Amino acid sequence: MVGNQVERQKILDIRNLRIELKGRRERLAVVDGVSLSVSQGETLGIVGESGCGKSVLSLSMLGLLPKAMEINGGEIWYGEREDEAQPLHLLKPKELRKIRGREVAMVFQDPMSSLNNSLTIGYQVTEGLRLHLGYSRQEAAAQAIELFRKVGLARPEKLLKEYPHQLSGGMRQRVMIAIAIACNPGLLIADEPTTALDVTIQAQILEVMRQIRDQDGTSIVLISHDLGLIAEMCDRIAVMYAGRIVEEGSVADIFDRPRHPYTIGLLNSIPSPSHKGHRLHSIPGAVPALHERSVGCNFAPRCQYAMECCRIEQPKLSPVGFGHTTSCFLVVEEGVRKGDNRNTADRAEGTGEVLYETSVAAEGTGAASR
Ligand SMILES: Nc1ncnc2c1ncn2[C@@H]1O[C@H](COP(=O)(O)OP(=O)(O)OP(=O)(O)O)[C@@H](O)[C@H]1O
Ligand code: SF4
Ligand SMILES: [Mg+2]
Repeated sequence: MVGNQVERQKILDIRNLRIELKGRRERLAVVDGVSLSVSQGETLGIVGESGCGKSVLSLSMLGLLPKAMEINGGEIWYGEREDEAQPLHLLKPKELRKIRGREVAMVFQDPMSSLNNSLTIGYQVTEGLRLHLGYSRQEAAAQAIELFRKVGLARPEKLLKEYPHQLSGGMRQRVMIAIAIACNPGLLIADEPTTALDVTIQAQILEVMRQIRDQDGTSIVLISHDLGLIAEMCDRIAVMYAGRIVEEGSVADIFDRPRHPYTIGLLNSIPSPSHKGHRLHSIPGAVPALHERSVGCNFAPRCQYAMECCRIEQPKLSPVGFGHTTSCFLVVEEGVRKGDNRNTADRAEGTGEVLYETSVAAEGTGAASR
């Protein structure tokens, strides 16, 4: 026990994971040395701009990487008890199928391509219940109706006989969520689970996710571009940039004490009601494509603080507080070594360089009051 925090069992443990895209001439790192863990009943948020590798990372946890990619280093361990942990990175497809849906379930980013258009919704929702939990056809159908109600789907009995193409995008997304939670998984990976949904349905889905976390102790990995949603739902946040984790910490660490210039840039791009009419900060430049990634800090071309060392060496994730890590030479060299505990933006301010205003972001999410 640390302070009043009870040490919880690690359910997912990713260690130094490297995923490569196999090309004819070269192999490119899509995920590069990622280490992450999720404890029982914990919600970990993963944020980062488009193309940073969030979906690829989550697909690797279920052995569902695209054919052109493979794990080439590192480990992924899953287990509700330490002595039962299984190396997901080593399991055969048949062994992974037993875990998928039953122990680790996923809400995919694209519900269109994740549902089978030639099978009824009923078949797809009851399949896992029959396969993994041994339900009879009738029992599974009754449970499916319950699940549809839980995720806010109207006329559930009729829905069982329908096909995915007959449903709207929001309904398909809710069906995906019903499938994912059907077998009470220990870990739910939700990749942009509410993007296609309107605000009311979004709130309903979030409530379902909270319920399974609080009542069943399900751990959740939540991937989203919506930092407000991440602040509301998560215990910890990992900020991903160009295939690497650049900062990780509690919600308060990330929203109130961000240290990496990329994190601060992301926070500053959240619209704030009190800044109506003001120009929104956005990070100049774009995430480098896979073939443009460097041996140094991939954020250097977009970073106002970039130094010579940033372009030739990769900064390591280093602790900047309890449970708070970041990979930035500026923070580690100038901040921690001098015992400076302020965030990167505050220190820039001290030098007359006001690049980021973290208060803008904190206001927008309500995280400042945490
Ligand atoms: N099937 C694939 N074949 C080749 N490259 C791919 C494939 N899927 C993803 N990539 C590449 O891998 C990188 C990471 O993609 P990924 O989909 O994981 O990003 P993401 O962070 O989930 O982005 P978004 O926020 O847009 O969902 C990108 O450069 C992408 O172009
Ligand atoms: S390591 Fe250098 S380039 Fe990278 S974020 Fe820090 S200061 Fe900027
Ligand atoms: Mg994605």
